[in-house]
Amino acid sequence: MNNLTRLGNQLKSTSKLINKNVVGSSTPSFSTAATQMATAQENVRTYGGLKDQDRIFTNLYGEHDVYLKGAMLRGDWYRTKDIIDKGKDWILKEMMASGLRGRGGAGFPSGLKWSFMPKVLKGRPHYLVINADEGEPGTCKDREIMRHDPHKLIEGCLIAGFAMKACAAYIYIRGEFHYEAKVLEQAIEEAYKAGLIGENASGTGYKFDVYVHRGAGAYICGEETALIESLEGKQGKPRLKPPFPAMAGLYGCPTTVTNVETVAVAPTILRRGGAWFAGFGRPKNAGTKLYCISGHVNNPCTVEEEMSIPLRELIDKHCGGVIGGWENLKGVIPGGSSVPVLPKNICDDVLMDFDDLRKHRSGLGTAAVIVMNKETDMIKAIARLSKFYKHESCGQCTPCREGTGWLWDITERLVTGDAKLDEIDMLEEISKQIEGHTICALGDAAAWPVQGLIRSFRPEIEDRIKQFQSKQKHSPF
Ligand SMILES: Cc1cc2nc3c(=O)[nH]c(=O)nc-3n(C[C@H](O)[C@H](O)[C@H](O)COP(=O)(O)O)c2cc1C
Ligand code: SF4
Repeated sequence: MNNLTRLGNQLKSTSKLINKNVVGSSTPSFSTAATQMATAQENVRTYGGLKDQDRIFTNLYGEHDVYLKGAMLRGDWYRTKDIIDKGKDWILKEMMASGLRGRGGAGFPSGLKWSFMPKVLKGRPHYLVINADEGEPGTCKDREIMRHDPHKLIEGCLIAGFAMKACAAYIYIRGEFHYEAKVLEQAIEEAYKAGLIGENASGTGYKFDVYVHRGAGAYICGEETALIESLEGKQGKPRLKPPFPAMAGLYGCPTTVTNVETVAVAPTILRRGGAWFAGFGRPKNAGTKLYCISGHVNNPCTVEEEMSIPLRELIDKHCGGVIGGWENLKGVIPGGSSVPVLPKNICDDVLMDFDDLRKHRSGLGTAAVIVMNKETDMIKAIARLSKFYKHESCGQCTPCREGTGWLWDITERLVTGDAKLDEIDMLEEISKQIEGHTICALGDAAAWPVQGLIRSFRPEIEDRIKQFQSKQKHSPF
């Protein structure tokens, strides 16, 4: 059902509701009717079309001065002291009221997560760690923040760090982001020189340091405990949880690991109010969001939009549509390579938020939208992802270490059709044996694309196998 049809149906039911009240035996009071109208209006609300005045990232495309002077003109560092003077409890309360959910992939409520840090310092320092690894294939949003709006992140570090009683923030940036690391370092230096961070940060009497740490480019180092291990100078291998980082994280001290975008939006939320941010998107899916759209679209881009925008509108409005037109669409991976691919019929109506994508058995993940038109060999595309996960598995858990290799082996054979039909069920069974049976979520990330392929494109796999078998039958050799 498209938006217009949905709107039409909802209007019909609204008018039925009103007619019923008019002709019914008891005439409703004005306030009842007004409430019903308001509810009906809420029901017909559509999402998207974010206005310029509501954008948080006003230099996403690097058209203006990236550094401090330009950032201040855009409103960054404006009365930061006043925000901090309101206290840590106020900051956490506003963050919870904003409804912000982590932008690193899992979508955990950010205010709540930040509040898990111990309330008082008990002889150990607290740390804030910014996850700038951005290794999820298709994802390129944190990079835009770091190279074009670095002060949003640095100011966010100070405020989030203060709310957690952290003495320092470590920005763990993937090694390949050489340019972004340089920009960040320069912006941090400016912030120190201007007294915004460091001793007496922003005149608050609070001491706060920010460091940039460059990783070596392993996808697994984006997993928060592997990241901590790597930051400590060890191999990036995920830790068993519990204990969770808020209790024992970096160097055994209370730590919160959180994504670049999550932290970078915090200062604007606190300036404009949690309720302002909560006003965007459907309930429990609040805010504005950076979407990065790649693949078979006319204009691949990263764009800030309202949460819950319909996928089709996102692609048509900001990316110039699917190459060959909407009817040429085959499927979309809506949240980075780890989430299941959606077939076209679901893409027609699905909303880009945590809950609607989950309802359709996929996920918002990092909001990296990979669009594939009918030219795509879907089996080959997913086999390529299986190769990626096999390569990136750290090897600690047997289901992931062995299972990712088996997924890759079978999907590779499915590309040519050199498999038996019952291997499709076997493949699904292997993916289920991996999912939920490992130390970290890389196991799930490897399993879900394969499950999505089987769920939505099974006939294509079967045809490929049958074609191969028929060729074999008629081969003279
Ligand atoms: C294999 C793997 C890779 C990940 N890579 C990233 C990453 O590059 N960036 C990121 O922010 N989160 C990544 N995550 C999620 C983090 O573990 C963590 O949930 C996130 O940084 C929390 O931030 P948030 O609360 O702001 O969402 C990854 C998770 C896994 C399992
Ligand atoms: S699930 Fe895979 S990547 Fe994660 S800890 Fe286990 S082996 Fe390593």
